[in-house]
Amino acid sequence: MAHLVTLIPGDGIGPEVAEATVRAVEATGVKIEWDRVNAGLRALADFGRLIPDEVFASLEATRVGLKGPTATPIGGGHQSINVALRKKLGLYVNFRPVRIVPGLKTRFQDLPIDMAIFRENTEDLYSGLEHEIVPGVVESLKIITRDASMKIARATFEYARREGRAKVTAIHKANIMKLSDGLFLTCCRETASQFPEIKYNELIVDNACMQLVMRPETFDLLVLPNLYGDIVSDLAAGLVGGLGIVPGANLGDNHAIFEAVHGTAPDIAGKGLANPTALMQSAVLMLAHLGEREASARLRSAIDQVYAHRECLTGDVGGDSTTEQFTEAVIRRVGAVTERLNEVYSRQPAKVDSGLDRAQRRSLEEDS
Ligand code: NAI
Repeated sequence: MAHLVTLIPGDGIGPEVAEATVRAVEATGVKIEWDRVNAGLRALADFGRLIPDEVFASLEATRVGLKGPTATPIGGGHQSINVALRKKLGLYVNFRPVRIVPGLKTRFQDLPIDMAIFRENTEDLYSGLEHEIVPGVVESLKIITRDASMKIARATFEYARREGRAKVTAIHKANIMKLSDGLFLTCCRETASQFPEIKYNELIVDNACMQLVMRPETFDLLVLPNLYGDIVSDLAAGLVGGLGIVPGANLGDNHAIFEAVHGTAPDIAGKGLANPTALMQSAVLMLAHLGEREASARLRSAIDQVYAHRECLTGDVGGDSTTEQFTEAVIRRVGAVTERLNEVYSRQPAKVDSGLDRAQRRSLEEDS
């Protein structure tokens, strides 16, 4: 049976990277019925609203979305589309895995960086509660609740247990914000005590930034309140090639939206130059979320191989190929990985549906 997924192509380069990603996902053979809906500037022009009701209706029905970047007009009282979707759908986890893509040239290319960031997505200084007390004095409220902190801590540790990760680091500034960040830490500690097999430590956010730059390979999972999470996510993305590469996911109890974290890149929109890697890597996460772990691993391996062989890379990562040429290269590699796995399956009939066994993993890694 086909999976139902809401596709929001978005603005600027959004439709180009979304189409490339749909083709790469379809190359894996997973059946997906895409419900295409518009949000952003195109929706504003067509319906007079940045997020028409049909977007929420579709996400209510499918519960899973793949989203390209959308432009939010500055001024005019428009709420950011991403903030609106997170609030309405209760997407309290902002998840960003950060790993070195083999072959991609970065300052840190020789380090085994493989971390994942869990950023609380609903409160903290992003609650939008600001007011002027008297002329010249403005107050912005930092809201930290036990409920939201427990949810993000639990999501982090559950992921650690499920994926066999070794360590969770909570990042904070509780030495200064004793009550608010103190509550966040208390929730992380309480949760850590229920997962004794997972190592737990804490770092003050400024020290964490320095350690991330000096010893990024020592980090595993990071859990942070919203503001530090936003900043540290981009710092970490910068270690492995920037926002054009890393994927993102907004996750709640009932819904999930997978999206690239870069913007609409108006300077290159419509020119066929956009790099679809970040949205393709978001689709890797989406396939795993849909239970298609094997197809997810195949798509990830195909992207890795394209980079490892520096085949058809786009301009932003030092190549001179188009979005189309890069996409074709990924699709060819998906085909090659699938053939190789089929060979392994035929030698080893005990197929593992929910993931890859050791021989299959080795086979994928050999090609990378
Ligand atoms: P941007 O990420 O769109 O662009 C920054 C630079 O990176 C540009 O030079 C652009 O060409 C390049 N770039 C970005 N993604 C690329 C890709 N996939 N391939 C190749 N080059 C890429 O950031 P900017 O200019 O600050 O924002 C432009 C618009 O995007 C704004 O309207 C902003 O509101 C929106 N935006 C939307 C986001 C979302 O929907 N998730 C996130 C960030 C910004």
